[in-house]
Amino acid sequence: MDKLIITGGTRLSGELRISGAKNAALPILAATLLSTTPVSVGNIPHLHDITTTMELLGRMGVSLLVDEKMNIEVDSSTINSYEAPYELVRTMRASILVLGPLLARFGEAHVSLPGGCAIGTRPVDIHLNGLIKMGADITVEGGFIHAKVDRLKGCRLVLEQITVTGTENLLMAATLASGTTIIENAAKEPEVTDLAHFLNAMGAKITGIGTDVLVIEGVENLGVPDLHYDILPDRIETGTYLCAAAITGGKVKLKNTRPDILDAVLEKLVEAGAEITTGDDWIALDMHGKKPKAVSLRTAPYPAFPTDMQAQFIAMNCVADGVGIITETIFENRFMHVQELQRMGANIKLESNTAICTGMEKITGAPVMATDLRASASLVIAALVAEGSTLVDRIYHIDRGYDHIEEKLSQLGATIRRVPQ
Ligand code: EPU
Repeated sequence: MDKLIITGGTRLSGELRISGAKNAALPILAATLLSTTPVSVGNIPHLHDITTTMELLGRMGVSLLVDEKMNIEVDSSTINSYEAPYELVRTMRASILVLGPLLARFGEAHVSLPGGCAIGTRPVDIHLNGLIKMGADITVEGGFIHAKVDRLKGCRLVLEQITVTGTENLLMAATLASGTTIIENAAKEPEVTDLAHFLNAMGAKITGIGTDVLVIEGVENLGVPDLHYDILPDRIETGTYLCAAAITGGKVKLKNTRPDILDAVLEKLVEAGAEITTGDDWIALDMHGKKPKAVSLRTAPYPAFPTDMQAQFIAMNCVADGVGIITETIFENRFMHVQELQRMGANIKLESNTAICTGMEKITGAPVMATDLRASASLVIAALVAEGSTLVDRIYHIDRGYDHIEEKLSQLGATIRRVPQ
């Protein structure tokens, strides 16, 4: 297992190019299963979760071609299995995203149940109930979801809770259903919107994109010859590097990104004392050498503050001026980074789903362990200002969602290196 060794104390500065969004790439690659013609997908990030998705599609017999620019051409005409096996689903919950497309196009899907995960129980009942309402016959046996249908039927779905992958699964399923499906209380995350645009580019008829009511008029089949689609930039990777720069009092410019989908995060960075300037596809942050001020926030579905940025802001609050109160409302167990940050000297009190962080003059490097993707990012951010060196273990979590993190941070001047086991 690789580790990262980070020596704190350098003020980050420079420019960086943001990669494509993991959480858009995963559903879009799953959605290629719906197409009768080969599809090319671009701006794909170099990540373990992408490799896992490719392995998942490959195991089903789907043909995949990757070029040197990480464009992936997917041809699902060679598919010979409709199964997502346990060993892949267990390493990546997002594998559940093949359920909707497989069922809609081939009338059959066998997907291992994801089970619990580090950040909470994360059930998939809303995905399954929606498909059942659309006429699917679903049984759960031997740890697998078995789904069958002749053709899904459009209907009105009011989601009990806002769910990102749940909305995506039902949206993909509805594109090939007979009649019209209306998804109410749909997730509006930019990644859901990107998926909807991709589906329309393949010939789907979706309206209400970007709102919480999606209307999908089912079509007979999807597929447009020579279709190429570029994934939107990763807003969470963007936010993570902005926090990394802010905690060090630094000055950075992030290119190939989208400020318009980061409002809640940018607002909190300004509150922390950052000067933010933006263009259509770039964001610059300047702390003018100052340490951040503590910020308080509450996570909630888009367009509010994203749960995927909570851990990074806790890291920033560890050394900020003042006290920051951070409340997590999406996942019940997403504070695993707190214990590790405390090992570095952070003053954080946990009260139910709230973390109260009192900024310290300094924190110190320590051996720490990555527990999930965003928790790992927060440890790396804290390490950038810690006195001495921090060794971050189990960084396979980071490699799931951050494209070449040590190279990108080195590019901004950080002292960071990967040591193989
Ligand atoms: N939920 C249910 N039943 C369901 C589905 C969800 O109760 O059937 C609950 C969950 O337990 C949770 C809440 O609804 O409490 C919201 O979860 P959601 O379904 O929106 O999460 P997700 O789709 O599993 C995606 C991202 C996560 C991100 C969340 C929230 C992908 C592949 N994953 O997960 O990303 O945190 O939405 O925005 O898109 C990450 O990138 O690090 C990550 C965890």
